[in-house]
Amino acid sequence: FNLLAVKIHLVLLLYCSLDYTFFALLCAGVKKGDRVSIYMPMVVELVVAMLACVRIGAVHSIVFAGFSAESLCERIMDSQCSLLITAGGLSNPHRRLTHVPWNPDVDLCWHTLVCGESDECEPEWCESEDPLFVLYTSGSTGKPKGVLHTISGYMLYTATTFKLVFDYQPDDVYWCTADIGWITGHSYITYGPLANGATSVLFEGLPTYPDVSRMWEIVDKYHVTKFYTAPTAIRLLMKYGSEPVQKYKRESLKVLGTVGEPINPEAWQWYYTVVGEKRCPIVDTFWQTETGGHVLTPLPAATPMKPGSATFPFFGVVPAILNESGEELEGPNEGYLVFKQPWPGVMRTVQGNHQRFETTYFKKFPGYYVTGDGCRRDKDGYFWITGRIDDMLNVSGHLLSTAEVESALVEHEVVAEAAVVGRPHPVKGESLYCFVTLTDGVTFSRALETDLKKQVREKIGAIATPDFIQEAPTLPKTRSGKIMRRVLRKIACDERDMGDISTLADSSVVEELFQNRCSTAV
Ligand code: WT7
Repeated sequence: FNLLAVKIHLVLLLYCSLDYTFFALLCAGVKKGDRVSIYMPMVVELVVAMLACVRIGAVHSIVFAGFSAESLCERIMDSQCSLLITAGGLSNPHRRLTHVPWNPDVDLCWHTLVCGESDECEPEWCESEDPLFVLYTSGSTGKPKGVLHTISGYMLYTATTFKLVFDYQPDDVYWCTADIGWITGHSYITYGPLANGATSVLFEGLPTYPDVSRMWEIVDKYHVTKFYTAPTAIRLLMKYGSEPVQKYKRESLKVLGTVGEPINPEAWQWYYTVVGEKRCPIVDTFWQTETGGHVLTPLPAATPMKPGSATFPFFGVVPAILNESGEELEGPNEGYLVFKQPWPGVMRTVQGNHQRFETTYFKKFPGYYVTGDGCRRDKDGYFWITGRIDDMLNVSGHLLSTAEVESALVEHEVVAEAAVVGRPHPVKGESLYCFVTLTDGVTFSRALETDLKKQVREKIGAIATPDFIQEAPTLPKTRSGKIMRRVLRKIACDERDMGDISTLADSSVVEELFQNRCSTAV
């Protein structure tokens, strides 16, 4: 990794038990309050490493293993981590191991660290408001924000929501398919379930490997009772029809959950009818990295469902819908989704930048927490999330800011300017459609397009790979020079009805872009 001046130690977790891990961290010199980055695949040692940090009062900062070295570097620097815990090998879906080279100057080996140590470790006593972890999420400025959660509020909230939203019972076998590198995996694989003593399935693999029945095979194998996944996974499996699902019995299933983006009613119906055979209530859980746990959600079998609606607030959560001038709207309406009072699991600050915390969430409408989502309330009081209303995109349930992808593109020497918008995608929800203005004299080519995609992948990670890149000799701008994304979105979606474009400085740009639009991904 290109880590500049930061001295980073690597602990290779080749083999471990829980108590030994606390010791390994202590031996590596980690103290209460220190920051520790974790960059690991979905193996049990990842959970062990998280809990080891908690035991000794260290604050973990997990970086999703699909992020690039550069993204990892940025997060390590921002959270001032003194240690990085990673794995010596990573198995890809086809079971081959890729190994990282060993550097004796910075790498520490697990076995060497624990050698001769006792396997008991007294827990470090902490205050309830001491930090538990930092987790980065995309920010609309392009620079990721380190969302900071604290010990007691977060634990209480994830434990309670887990228990009630999944109707957790002691004989349950619970399976959440998320990656621990995202908040869903923090709250509903590690903390919520473990605080309830729940039995969980931890899965490293793909829903389509070795075949598209993989999920249901595992459900039957372990008698999974509560199953939690994302709309993008449902849409992916839906493409293969009901036969791969029906190959397995799924009799153990009781509650099905979804999270990450609005679920389209068609996917909801398939999940409900084919997967759950109309026996299992669906909990459509709306929440965010920032909220720590579910904030709008049905309670299974208690809340009458409507396909595509996250229904009502969880206990203690008080939502409101505001109009542009910040007035609360009553009854059926649509506007900004905000919350009127805090709940135990709400984030406490942005790592190293409390000002940014206040500006991002509390400035637009003073006195309210702003989610950044649009929301509609129907005549029965149900909440329907309509999607992001800031410059954020949701690709396969992962938030990306248009600004971060744009800055990855303009770092390429031939790109003078870039504008990125979302285009609806049948499986991913949204895909990235990028417009690039090249520097003088450079011609656009397939090779350049490939190069630009590679650039974004290397700078951010595979999840941010653009589906479409179109050359834009000029971008549609207002007279004050602001890029009109609304217009670009219409071009990306091939919608001719532009609405009012009188503020455009030069309207001929639009026709030209329409003529050269990309119709299929290459
Ligand atoms: C954004 C938060 C929460 C864990 C995974 C994503 C969207 C999330 C739903 C849902 C409609 C949803 C929102 C939200 N979102 N769940 N059930 N219905 N939209 O965490 O990366 O912090 O993203 O995901 O837009 O603001 P995140």
